[in-house]
Amino acid sequence: MKIKNLKKFPEGFLWGASSSAYQCEGGWNQDGKGMSVQDLHEGTAEISDFKVTSDFYNRYKEDIAMMKAMGFKSYRFSISWTRIIPNGDGEINQSGIDFYNKVIDELLDANIEPIITMYHFDLPLELQKKGGWLNRDVTVPAFMKFAKAIFKAYGKKVKYWLTINELNLLVLMNMFGQDFLSPTDKKYTIGEAFQIGHHLFIAQALAMKELHETFPKCLIGPAPNISSVYPASSKPEDVLAAQTAAVFRSWYWLDAPVRGEHNPIVIKWLDELGFNLEIRDGDDEILKAAKPDFVAFNYYSTMTVKAWNNESTTSKKSDQQQGLGIPNMFMDAKNEHLGKTEFGWSIDPVGFRVTSREIFERYRLPMLLTENGIGVREELNSDMTVNDDYRIEWYKDHIIEMRKAISEGMEFIGFNPWSAMDLVSTHEGFQKRYGFIFVNRDEKDLRDLKRYRKKSSYWYEELIKNNGNNI
Ligand code: BG6
Repeated sequence: MKIKNLKKFPEGFLWGASSSAYQCEGGWNQDGKGMSVQDLHEGTAEISDFKVTSDFYNRYKEDIAMMKAMGFKSYRFSISWTRIIPNGDGEINQSGIDFYNKVIDELLDANIEPIITMYHFDLPLELQKKGGWLNRDVTVPAFMKFAKAIFKAYGKKVKYWLTINELNLLVLMNMFGQDFLSPTDKKYTIGEAFQIGHHLFIAQALAMKELHETFPKCLIGPAPNISSVYPASSKPEDVLAAQTAAVFRSWYWLDAPVRGEHNPIVIKWLDELGFNLEIRDGDDEILKAAKPDFVAFNYYSTMTVKAWNNESTTSKKSDQQQGLGIPNMFMDAKNEHLGKTEFGWSIDPVGFRVTSREIFERYRLPMLLTENGIGVREELNSDMTVNDDYRIEWYKDHIIEMRKAISEGMEFIGFNPWSAMDLVSTHEGFQKRYGFIFVNRDEKDLRDLKRYRKKSSYWYEELIKNNGNNI
C-alpha cells in the first residue's frame, strides 16, 4: 500500500540509541564488580575481549555530553548484575548502585530519558557455577533479589524498563551450540534450553509484576529480537515452514510475556522429541499476572526459510540473524531480493514495517524499537570523522518504514538503534562498529579511546530536531 499522507511522529517520541553493559562499560573488575559469564571470553589473537571495551565506565560523562549534543531524547543501557551483586545473590555492592545513579542523574540533567535493560547476556559467573538458568531455585530468586535492588534504587527516577534482552536468542543460540551470548562450559540439550526459556519467562513475569506493584508509574516490557519470516516460495510446504519458523523465532517468546501462554506448536514439538517442560503449579498464574506495558524489540533483518529437506543450509555462517533451521521443519534459504551487510546480515527496511505490523496485529501493544543498525568496519579519516553515508541511508530507509507503519495505525513510542557509541560486538570484536560515535581503538590496541562524532550523528541530530518529520 502506498501512503499519500504520512502521519507525524508522536510528540515525546523517544529518539535515542542503545548499548549494553558488558559491551561498552569495560571496568570489568573495578570498584567491586564480580565476574559475569562474559568475563570468561578471553578474545582471540584477532578479536578483543570484554575487559576495557569502550570504557564507558570511566567516560560516561563525556559520552552523555555527546548524546546531549546530538539531542537524544532517550538512551537505552543495561545494568551489570555483577556490579550490583558481585556474586549474583549475596551482598549488594554500594559502588555499583552509585555508578548507575550517577549515569541516570547525568542523563536526566541532559533531558535524556533513561531506558534500563535489567539483564543483557551477562549472568553472574557464580550463579552459572550453581547451574545458571537451568537451576530455577537458585537463579530465579537471585534475579528477583537483583530486580528488587535496582527497582528500589532507580524506580523513582527511571520510567522505562526492559526485562531481559533477547530472551529468545539466549535460548536459541544455546540450542544450536552458538553460546557466545551466554558462554558456559555446559552444552545444553534442546529440552534443557527450552526449560531455561521457561525459567526466564518466570523471572521476567515476576519482575514485571514486582515493578508494577512497587512503582506503579513505571512502564516495563520484554525485549526479544523479532523478525518476520518469509517463505522461499509460494509452495504450501514452504509457507508452513515459514509460519513454524516464526513461532520458534518470535511468537513463542512474546506469547508468554504478553498472553501468559506457551505457544502449543513448540510444546507439541518438544513432546514429539520426548521433552516435557517442567511447569510447576502456579506458573500459569505467574505468567498471566504479568502485564507488559509495551513490546520492546530488536530488529536487524528478516529471515527466509523453506521446508526442511536435508540439504546443508545456505548460510555459511550462523549467528543471531542467519543460519537458523530446525530438522524436519524449516531451513534457512536465500532471499534473492535482499542485499547483505559486509557481515552477511540481510538488509530489509521494508521487513521492519512487515515485522512491526505483525507484532501490533498480534498483541495490540505500543512498540519500542530497542535495536537496529548496521555493523561495518570503519576507520577515522584525515578530518577525524567517519563519512558513514551507508549508515545514514540505512536509518533513513528504516525510519521511513516506521513512519509508514505509524501512518497506518501501528503504535510506536521510540526508536533506539544499536548503538550510541562503538562497542564490542557479541562475537566479532571491535571491528564490527555500529556507533554514531567513533571510539578510537581497535581489537588489541586501545590507542587513546577518544570519541569522535561520525557523519551519521549530525544527520541524526537534525532528524531528532525535527522529531523525525523531515524524513
Ligand atoms: C543483538 C544484541 O543480538 O545484536 C547485541 O542484543 C548485539 O548485544 C547486537 O551486539 C549486534 O550483534 P553483533 O553480533 O553484531 O554484536
